Amino acid sequence: MMLKVDQLTVRFGRRTTPAISGIGFHIDQGERLGLIGESGSGKSVTSLAVMGLLGDTARISGSIRWKGEELVGRSDAHYSRLRGAAMGMVFQEPMTALDPTMRCGRQVAEVVRLHAGADRGQARAKVLEILATVGLADPERIADSYPDELSGGQRQRVLIAMAMVNSPQLLIADEPTTALDVTVQAKVLEELDRMLANTGAGLLFISHDLAVVARMCERIAVMYRGSIVETGRLDQVLGNPQHPYTAGLIATADITSAEPGSRLPVIQDFWRQS
Ligand SMILES: Nc1ncnc2c1ncn2[C@@H]1O[C@H](COP(=O)(O)OP(=O)(O)O)[C@@H](O)[C@H]1O
Ligand SMILES: [Mg+2]
Repeated sequence: MMLKVDQLTVRFGRRTTPAISGIGFHIDQGERLGLIGESGSGKSVTSLAVMGLLGDTARISGSIRWKGEELVGRSDAHYSRLRGAAMGMVFQEPMTALDPTMRCGRQVAEVVRLHAGADRGQARAKVLEILATVGLADPERIADSYPDELSGGQRQRVLIAMAMVNSPQLLIADEPTTALDVTVQAKVLEELDRMLANTGAGLLFISHDLAVVARMCERIAVMYRGSIVETGRLDQVLGNPQHPYTAGLIATADITSAEPGSRLPVIQDFWRQS
């Protein structure tokens, strides 16, 4: 198993109620798991815990194993060898994740040089290649731009490039397209999908949007108030939800085009893909 999380509980400061409580899930090589839940249910805390990015105020118990090796309690130095290399990550807010004072190409190049030990020329070549791969039409120009000179969709693609440039085995994407408009979101997801298929990387995909998760993942875990209340294959969970919150999610997903008695569009999409 590539990533295995067991009984993961996170508390902040002196608060008695945990932010997440007894979470468990696993992702094998090339698998795609969607973590879905409403705002505040603990999705981001879960992803930050896996990446070792929760900070000092968090008290973590339970287990996060990467290829059998326990990560809970390990040093930040240990984590930073994994981050950006074996595990890539993309977050929701491109403007906070990118350094506004540095050209985009240099930011991607630093990730390359940090982990791959490439020289300037090799790093530059790799940067241009990855920028093209994420669907940016003019890689040279994007590389030489500052983040605020780019559109939201371009910035998010730069972040995806940064996450994928060292060919991670697992990509953790926390609401990667939520800030984008629907058309750009669809394009970015398509490129992400193709990229993951080409590299064989696994995916932990976090979203509050069931339709988006259904598009990207083969298994889902439903979070509600800090716990995973339901998990299973996408078609099974959508076709036969066991938890009222899941049933509610399905009921409020975009069903405008559904005929009475027909399958939900998200489920149809899933079957069309598989
Ligand atoms: N750094 C933090 N300090 C204190 N509480 C936090 C911190 N980060 C998240 N929380 C709390 O943990 C809970 C889960 O948050 P989060 O994982 O961000 O939810 P989601 O990503 O599902 O919207 C929320 O109640 C939030 O207020
Ligand atoms: Mg979040």
